[in-house]
Amino acid sequence: MVAVATLPKHEVKDLALASVGKQRIEWAAREMPVIKQIRERFSQEKPFAGIRLVACSHVTTETANLAITLQAGGADAILIASNPLSTQDDVAACLVADYGIPVFAIKGEDNDTYHRHVQIALDHKPHVIIDDGSDVVATLIKERQDQLSDFIGSTEETTTGIVRLEAMLKDGVLSFPAMNVNDADTKHFFDNRYGTGQSTLDGVIRATNVLLAGKTLVVAGYGWCGKGVAMRAKGLGSNVIVTEIDPVRAIEAAMDGFRVMPMIDAAAEGDLFVTVTGNKHVIRPEHFAVMKDGAMVCNSGHFDIEIDLASLGATATGVREARNFTQEYTMPDGKSIVVLGEGRLINLAAAEGHPSAVMDMSFANQALACEYLVVNKGKLEPGLYSIPTEVDQEIAALKLAAMGIKIDSLTPEQEIYINSWTVGT
Ligand code: ADE
Repeated sequence: MVAVATLPKHEVKDLALASVGKQRIEWAAREMPVIKQIRERFSQEKPFAGIRLVACSHVTTETANLAITLQAGGADAILIASNPLSTQDDVAACLVADYGIPVFAIKGEDNDTYHRHVQIALDHKPHVIIDDGSDVVATLIKERQDQLSDFIGSTEETTTGIVRLEAMLKDGVLSFPAMNVNDADTKHFFDNRYGTGQSTLDGVIRATNVLLAGKTLVVAGYGWCGKGVAMRAKGLGSNVIVTEIDPVRAIEAAMDGFRVMPMIDAAAEGDLFVTVTGNKHVIRPEHFAVMKDGAMVCNSGHFDIEIDLASLGATATGVREARNFTQEYTMPDGKSIVVLGEGRLINLAAAEGHPSAVMDMSFANQALACEYLVVNKGKLEPGLYSIPTEVDQEIAALKLAAMGIKIDSLTPEQEIYINSWTVGT
């Protein structure tokens, strides 16, 4: 533990939790070989010497491994929560006490505290921001234009944040380079699909302990996250219904073997609802009205806007805490509707978020995207940048090697053939 006098300014629940956090961070590190290799290189090369960095992320064991990696690279890094309900308090304590990394995050913090932490993050005068949902970047643009002259750029972790960055670009207010980590192949194919698929059901199970076999599970949204949830729920024996607004994704869901229908029809059939659309009020009063007694609803999209909880609260005649992260609303007709995790990311509220093995690749992208911004400081026009293909391929190659999987490479003959247009039938 760093000496008490040198502890950085921080806001965490309880520093006494640090030793539990340390054990858990080290456990996660076992499944994060790619980040480990990057950390070893960063320790030698110090790419972030002199760089002030803010990471706004879910404060988990995996994020801790990222933060330690950035610090090893010489960054003056601080960490804030990207969601009021996702912080692992023991992890926050360990980062402060054992690594001297300032953390501002307490599980269950209210919205005012969350936004105050965003301001504290910007008071750090970051050169680089790692964002998850684009709240820090949006606040920088709205309220801290004076800080932009020193600012190098940002990286964005999640689909919702990318949608917001695209809107900033359209409105002409994105005045720096932003790296689109979410769309890297080694991010969304794995994190969004297998990560969300497993961790969402893990959250549902930890919150409720219900058997998923034989239940009708409605997945709203068939993006990468929805595909993951639907696939894993099917594997556990649920009858899965998908709802969509995109015709192509709807066909994909149908051809993947799921029933597809509008939410108003699915609402009457579902035992459990999972929203993963990134949009607002996907489940709303007309849906609650036709749900079965005891229907359970939860969200695994970034913000807590997908389920219209305000209207549910206004209609309900009562609400009680049935279990941790499980609130049972009584409706005027006597039936109950159960909301898990207050409509916030159920995988992080009631479970531990995505497993370390997928976050290894997501956070390798984050670390290398930050390095790319710093190496290319002053050379990148404002805009949204893809992760370079070589970086994506390198992360995949490192992950494969760590998994002990070998693959083929092209023969010289194949190399010529695949690069030629002259040979046909
Ligand atoms: N997002 C989803 N799961 C996560 C995790 N384990 N750590 C950080 N961010 C996440």
